[in-house]
Amino acid sequence: MNIIFATANKGKLREAAEILGEGWTLLTPADMGILEDIPETGNTLKENSIQKADYLFERLGCDCFADDTGLEVDALGGAPGVHSARYAGPGHDFDANIEKLLREMEGVPYEKRTARFRNVVTLIIGGEKHFFEGCMEGHIALQRSGTAGFGYDPVFVPDDFPGATVADLGEEVKNSISHRGKSLRAMAAWLSANTAAK
Ligand code: IMP
Repeated sequence: MNIIFATANKGKLREAAEILGEGWTLLTPADMGILEDIPETGNTLKENSIQKADYLFERLGCDCFADDTGLEVDALGGAPGVHSARYAGPGHDFDANIEKLLREMEGVPYEKRTARFRNVVTLIIGGEKHFFEGCMEGHIALQRSGTAGFGYDPVFVPDDFPGATVADLGEEVKNSISHRGKSLRAMAAWLSANTAAK
């Protein structure tokens, strides 16, 4: 069965395809002729993931899902949270976001650098919405390390592998412990139990 994932991120697509397995053909908005950025103007991760899934469903009328992620840093009162993508301001890249994060965390000792990635997936199937959530706990590193992944991966040390950043671990290990991996596996289990595709 076809299902559309509201992303242009190749890593996320590979991860979702692997988790969903053979019964599903994963398509992107671009595959369906939607080339513009999908708006995400909500105040929470859930609002954003609903907004992106609704955007696709209203235009295409087919089964789809969208996700939204935020990095919550305890020492920063939960920031950047829903603003994680634009933490250093509009038009800034991952590098600038990390730079700002490390600057804001200057002087905070390692044991107080606790943080987590939270992810919310909205699935619209048969016109109905279902939600799945995942979380990865860890610490913000004192400095960058590693080259794999994207976003804040070079400065996030997951509790599951306390000697490395997510960017040191590589895609396969990351997907087995990540916030998004957990939501997507919950969605895949739901699909497997509730649809005929598998
Ligand atoms: P999005 O909702 O997946 O677009 O995520 C929002 C922002 O959170 C991204 O722009 C990244 O900065 C960050 N982010 C999301 N997922 C990850 C991840 O798996 N690793 C590191 N950073 C991430």
